[in-house]
Amino acid sequence: MENPPLAPDWYESGFPHIWLPYTQMKTAAPPLAVSHTHGTRIVLADGRELIDGIASWWTACHGYGNPHIRAAVSSQLDLMSHVMFAGLVHKPALTLAARLAKLLPGDLDHVFFSDSGSVAVEVALKMATQYWLNQGVRTRHSFLAFKGGYHGDTIATMAVSDPDEGMHALFKGLLPKHHVVDLPRDEDSIMAFDAFLERHADTLAGIVVEPLVQGAGGMLFHGAEVLQHIRAAADRYGLLLICDEIFTGFGRTGTMFACDGAGIVPDIITLSKALTGGTMALAATVARKKVFDAFWSDRPEHALMHGPTFMANPLACAAANASLDLFELEPRLAQAMAISESLEAGLAPCRDIVGVKDVRVMGAIGVVELNKIDDMNALKQRFIDSGVWVRPFNRIVYLTPALTIGDEDMAKLTQTVVAVLKDA
Ligand SMILES: Cc1ncc(COP(=O)(O)O)c(C=O)c1O
Repeated sequence: MENPPLAPDWYESGFPHIWLPYTQMKTAAPPLAVSHTHGTRIVLADGRELIDGIASWWTACHGYGNPHIRAAVSSQLDLMSHVMFAGLVHKPALTLAARLAKLLPGDLDHVFFSDSGSVAVEVALKMATQYWLNQGVRTRHSFLAFKGGYHGDTIATMAVSDPDEGMHALFKGLLPKHHVVDLPRDEDSIMAFDAFLERHADTLAGIVVEPLVQGAGGMLFHGAEVLQHIRAAADRYGLLLICDEIFTGFGRTGTMFACDGAGIVPDIITLSKALTGGTMALAATVARKKVFDAFWSDRPEHALMHGPTFMANPLACAAANASLDLFELEPRLAQAMAISESLEAGLAPCRDIVGVKDVRVMGAIGVVELNKIDDMNALKQRFIDSGVWVRPFNRIVYLTPALTIGDEDMAKLTQTVVAVLKDA
């Protein structure tokens, strides 16, 4: 890989030592050197400014450098940047736990903090498995998950992601064995799903699903009725339902949580990404009372044996509390719905472009699915040359901007997607 022109010193000296995510470093275009971010803009070291169309993997829901979050983190830094969370607790974490419990539907009241989405899902899988172990049931330790699903990059989360179409297909056959089936969305898949449970439910600890949107698997949407069917089936067999809202949580689909939109309450929910408004690494696995109760015992071995070193980091919790303030004080969900309308209108012309398979929008997620992308590097470069930061993957060009994005930047994003795809 060649370095870009005008690379700063730190780029020249550091780049040979860095290992990039999801990147074939031999063939990929070199990454851009970023100097700083503000609002919905990414400023490059060479002075160019890009409008951010994906809000850093949809974490920066209030845009970058929100003054309220910065002030909260800064005051917290004066008090305490970190302290271990075993035998010690602190105000930012307990305040956040109480606020999440209040915000989440039903009795999702028991919050376990960690530091990344994958770990939050790992914790959910462990919680669900131990839920049964603590009741003396050793046979229920596998999970039912769905094609198109993505739940993280660690070994256990890869094992509940799509084994064929997902990004970890190379590992197929080498991971812990779980069951990945079609979402029950039409007559055939509902019959197959129901029949599977009829045969195998007694070996399952639970069901794992990304509600309403399967993100990294291809920005695939499904309806509330699919989740309601899964919820009812989980209830029928006493299975724990884990909703992975790491992508969908905090307004992305137009309601605070996708589960709210779908009218279901999972037994365990996982949150991360926009939890801190994209400021710092933090994740939460939140369980309903019946799950927590299965761990409440006089027996030490019934405790949840998990404890990431940086769990409940006070700075991250302060950022998350400030982010929740902003959801209370500012009309984020209305903004998400306004973005939805802009995406609908702005991306509609893509439907007439040759090579476009589908255009779909849910909440503040806009997707243009192509039949294929021949030259990914060239496509990415055209977006950069047009002054926007959009990162297509597989056959998908998508926009998940900050919920605070202004009309002008929003229009520039959709216009650029249309123009670039027309030219492609
Ligand atoms: C639905 C879902 N689950 C889990 C993860 C993994 O989160 P992280 O990258 O923080 O480990 C992601 C990340 O994109 C996600 O979208």
